[in-house]
Amino acid sequence: MKAKDLFYRSIEDHETFWKEQAKEISWFHFPGQIISKDENDYTQWFADGKLNMCYLCIDKHIEDGFGEEIAIIYDSPVTNQKLKYTYHQAKEEISKLAGGLLSLGLKKGDTAVIYMPMIPQTLFSMLACARIGVIHNVVFGGFAPHELVVRIDDCKPKALITATAGVEIAKRIPYLPLVEKAIELAQDKVENIIVFNRKLVENQHEMFDGLIDYEELVQNSKPADCVSVESNHPLYLLYTSGTTGKPKGITRDSGGYATALKFSMKYIYGIEPGETFWAASDFGWAVGHSYTVYGPLINRNTTIIFEGKPIMTPDAGTFWRIISEYKVAAMFTAPTAIRAIKKEDPNGELVKKYDLSNFKKQFLAGERCDVSTLDWFAEHIGVPAIDHWWQTESGSPMLGLMTFDNDYKIKRASAGKPIPGYDIKIFDENGYELDEHKEGYLVIKLPLPPGAMLGIWNDYDRFEKSYLSQYKGYYFSGDGAIKDEDGYIFITGRVDDVINVAGHRLSTSEMEEVVSSHPDVAECAVVGIDDNLRGQVPFATVVLKNGSQISEIDVEKQIVSSIREKIGAVAVLKSVMVVKRLPKTRSGKILRKLIRTIIDGRDFQIPSTIDDEKIIDELKEKIEQYKTN
Ligand code: COA
Ligand code: AMP
Repeated sequence: MKAKDLFYRSIEDHETFWKEQAKEISWFHFPGQIISKDENDYTQWFADGKLNMCYLCIDKHIEDGFGEEIAIIYDSPVTNQKLKYTYHQAKEEISKLAGGLLSLGLKKGDTAVIYMPMIPQTLFSMLACARIGVIHNVVFGGFAPHELVVRIDDCKPKALITATAGVEIAKRIPYLPLVEKAIELAQDKVENIIVFNRKLVENQHEMFDGLIDYEELVQNSKPADCVSVESNHPLYLLYTSGTTGKPKGITRDSGGYATALKFSMKYIYGIEPGETFWAASDFGWAVGHSYTVYGPLINRNTTIIFEGKPIMTPDAGTFWRIISEYKVAAMFTAPTAIRAIKKEDPNGELVKKYDLSNFKKQFLAGERCDVSTLDWFAEHIGVPAIDHWWQTESGSPMLGLMTFDNDYKIKRASAGKPIPGYDIKIFDENGYELDEHKEGYLVIKLPLPPGAMLGIWNDYDRFEKSYLSQYKGYYFSGDGAIKDEDGYIFITGRVDDVINVAGHRLSTSEMEEVVSSHPDVAECAVVGIDDNLRGQVPFATVVLKNGSQISEIDVEKQIVSSIREKIGAVAVLKSVMVVKRLPKTRSGKILRKLIRTIIDGRDFQIPSTIDDEKIIDELKEKIEQYKTN
């Protein structure tokens, strides 16, 4: 079977194609209805099918006789721990935690927020929720309390599962003060706060009343069985940045997602059951959900939970040590991680210390990968580094290489070709398909295949407005792209207010809300500018209120610290430039793209709608001054 035939079948006869793929997973009730519509006339996959994700990830493999094989490896250079869990051991932990959640009154359809670091208990919590039909929402540990509040108020969890601390290289991050603050600020009061005590910070566990000890809960509970859920039962909510300050609760189904993940493990990642697959992403991102937890476990691949960084924990050889020690067959990370390693170890000296003979493929996604990073990888690691493109919304790749087919070759700087199910086109702003080599908007013909988002939690209108209303019959991705004569697609970057900082998706609108809340700021623009390590970093340009006496240094310091406090250090906003006025169109819209292009020092065309061209020289002069200071 050739990859291109798979692709055409998936588009021309999607019902038969996905029915066949659905047979690759175990259902409690195989769906009779493959494709249908919901009350909003939006596509549903496998509506009458019944299954359970935790069963597919754990119990199924035990029933098949693999209970003693290693399901999960935890490697934490920051705490000097290495642990392994068989499927049997994982089931024991997960089913008892699930029993504990039931004993607290949680039931199918309730939501639970998981705010935890990279430890096995995070994965156990996700699967324990899935086991009893509780919808989980994992919140990245690097986010500040305000981000937690937004999620709590939107999804109204019955439980919040957390830990006493995270570790960032050598720094301990106590979580409970952050949780306490979030609970104080949230309108919705969470009934159950479950805390895993890592014993890394003092007196953390007793910090505030009413906490439930994770380990006691597990010890004192009876194991719970997997409940059977409908295919469209939400497995999780994952909030992601959009074009407004409020994050969107991407809602993921169960049956379509399981089918898509199984398909991707076989055809895109080309990995056999029993092999080790490692996605070095935090659980809080889409990659962590799909390829640190659900994808590899459904496919019976040992997965690795890595609590560390590509560098400094303890050095830039950590990735190669892990690949060698656990015989990793394929790995997935963000280009930023490889750029960080390349910077520390330009000649690949640390690579030579390790036996990488089992390592077959490296996958990269989350941000654009520069060609020099791909070249460094090819030269020093000796396995192909495969760029592929997807979004939180899709849950699995939309562009990439079907690695089983040798006709799919790497084309540097391209994120690959459309993956089965994704009928991708490049449109101009009026909805006409563009010729090859012309830059336009990347759109996808509906219906989206199984596994793609069900919608936005409790907000169909926003779902429609964000993705479906721009071009009738198409999903609007928010990315710009170019297609070449061989069908390869080159992603040119976001066309909205979303930026990618070290592979972390963030909203500049959300940052603008924080910046403009500073008492001296009259107006501002936050844009993503080029950065050699992180790909992009935010840059704020602000206009101060008339009569403001604050110095430029102070305003910068205060804005930098309020972004850390309200969004998190992970936003990495370090530059705030004060200007007299911002470039605008005649109708008063801020020309953010122009600001970004000038700061990046790229060529630009003066927008025809600009209000006053003189602003360009003003801005250039100010940027020069700012850079030299
Ligand atoms: N909890 C608390 N704080 C966190 C955090 C977490 N989970 N993750 C990051 N932070 C903090 C960091 O400690 C740092 O704080 P500081 O400014 O006080 O030093 C800040 O957020 C920025 O973090 P980061 O961008 O990770 O910078 P870094 O210098 O620590 O590491 C890299 C740089 C390139 C090594 C790192 O960004 C990296 O590994 N990137 C790859 C990311 C990735 O895999 N993304 C994948 C999604 S697919
Ligand atoms: P996230 O939802 O966090 O996975 O971020 C999705 C966004 O990351 C996409 O819309 C792109 O802008 C960007 N992205 C992901 N993968 C790639 C890639 N391979 N090349 C370029 N940009 C990418």
